[in-house]
Amino acid sequence: MAKIIAGVGTSHVPAIGAAVDHDKTETPYWKPLFDGYKKAREWMTETKPDVVILVYNDHASAFSLDLIPTFAIGVAPEFQPADEGYGPRKVPVVEGHPELAWHITENLILDEFDITIANNMPVDHGLSVPLSIMCDKPAKWPCKVIPLCVNVIQYPQPTGNRCYSLGKAIKKAVESFDEDITIAIFGTGGMSHQLQGERAGLINEDFDKKFLDDLTQDPVGLTKISHTEYIRESGSEGIEMVMWLVMRGALDDNAHEVYRHYHVPASNSGAGLIILEND
Ligand code: DHB
Ligand code: FE
Repeated sequence: MAKIIAGVGTSHVPAIGAAVDHDKTETPYWKPLFDGYKKAREWMTETKPDVVILVYNDHASAFSLDLIPTFAIGVAPEFQPADEGYGPRKVPVVEGHPELAWHITENLILDEFDITIANNMPVDHGLSVPLSIMCDKPAKWPCKVIPLCVNVIQYPQPTGNRCYSLGKAIKKAVESFDEDITIAIFGTGGMSHQLQGERAGLINEDFDKKFLDDLTQDPVGLTKISHTEYIRESGSEGIEMVMWLVMRGALDDNAHEVYRHYHVPASNSGAGLIILEND
């Protein structure tokens, strides 16, 4: 049977993708961040998941105010990099896993967890930057990817608790897929940042580090963080961290931490990365 073996939490700052694309990762500004990614990339190469379920958010690339699914899953054989205004990133096309994606979709919906089905969904930095962080600059991504898109852009976003429950439903769905494949689930976005308004530039290291600690020590406590608390403590864009709770919910309760890296600043954000493995 299919099995979720690990979860990764990581920021998706677009400038990190640009640093990779333009070979700037050894410059004084970027080197401390990318040095911390080395171990994560080694882990990815050694662990070699067959499929990554990549929980991310679209930044008005595939969707707009015309259409705002709370949760959407990509079931297509491939996903093209989106043009975010300066041409699509020159990264490999994302190869999907339609069979597993449809299996998850069917199981989620029959489990009364309605999700939007996306047959055509260009993917922006929200998805491609985490892949660049974990896989560097390959000619082809090393695994298949099922994009799972969460609305964290437009109020009302789903609660952290709903995201955690979605993770649990995904775990159940994956475990009934009759193929011996290994799966990693990525929760992306964050960490603390605010790109707009009077508090633009806000970063809260203490909040971010406690969030990283609590992924193993008190994940249920994290599900109780309200929207107001995310905004107050981690800035208007800190709400992206609810996507990490989909990842956490999909792991075993006693999953353990195998690696973490936290660096400030990366563009306007606290950049965090954590790897959790099931026992
Ligand atoms: C930045 C971070 C984000 O998460 C994003 O979507 C856009 C910009 C930033 O820190 O610059
Ligand atoms: Fe973002």
